[in-house]
Amino acid sequence: MRIIVVTGAASGIGKATAEYLRSSGARVIGVDLENTDVIADLSTPQGRKEMIESVSSLAPDGIDGVVAAAGVCPPVSPDQIISVNYFGAIATLEGFQPHLANSPAPRAVAVVSTAALMECRDDLVEACLSGDEEAARKIALECGETSYTASKRALGLWLRRAAAETSWAGAGITLNAVAPGTVRTPMTIPLLETEEGREILSKATPIAVKDYGEPEELAEILAFLATTEGRYIIGQILYVDGGTDALLRPNLL
Ligand code: NAI
Repeated sequence: MRIIVVTGAASGIGKATAEYLRSSGARVIGVDLENTDVIADLSTPQGRKEMIESVSSLAPDGIDGVVAAAGVCPPVSPDQIISVNYFGAIATLEGFQPHLANSPAPRAVAVVSTAALMECRDDLVEACLSGDEEAARKIALECGETSYTASKRALGLWLRRAAAETSWAGAGITLNAVAPGTVRTPMTIPLLETEEGREILSKATPIAVKDYGEPEELAEILAFLATTEGRYIIGQILYVDGGTDALLRPNLL
């Protein structure tokens, strides 16, 4: 039986992914702030360490996959957004890399966002990529809400650079991401419930289909990237966005 760690497993996309994987026969170890197997705060170095330790004791022989779905968005404070969405996700993916070594088909999957296509400050993205959490958190406070964009852009760029390295692809571990567009989850429902919120979203992330995504539709793609299939998919960011990427970047392959 494959063992897959899913962060953000108590809600929305992470919860749907955990349920989908369980129903497909995997053993899932959920990580979240509450209501799942491992309770850990991924915004802090201590919480990240606790996550790795707890999962190690639940799966002493290692794991087969990790799906890093935990995330926050405004109105959560910009420094917290950077710590959870970028540094928490990196700590999850890198932290479990050694635990994947014994799997016959090791898989790592991140959740970025179409928000990564929006404008944000390059110095914040660079501070993330250089691993300087303290500096990144300071810059984030100046940037405000665009810190969400920066957190997801940095995560996507980190993944593109890391995936082909010897420690990932070279070790047989696929590292890929899904970039959701607007998905109806507890994160977005407050925005989707107001006319103003829907207007903001349709300008920033236009969609080509009639309705927003559902968490289950993301779950099946995230689960696919965590299965034994897809050995040759490396460093890809798969937009599952109702057409947002195609509308915003029609000339990009
Ligand atoms: P959600 O709010 O339903 O679920 C996020 C989960 O992450 C929650 O269970 C929450 O407790 C957990 N989490 C937050 N901070 C944490 C921390 N410090 N430590 C541990 N766990 C923490 O949100 P949703 O929509 O399911 O989001 C999942 C991922 O998808 C996030 O990374 C989000 O940025 C991304 N995303 C969501 C989109 C959407 O439209 N819903 C669009 C694009 C990306």
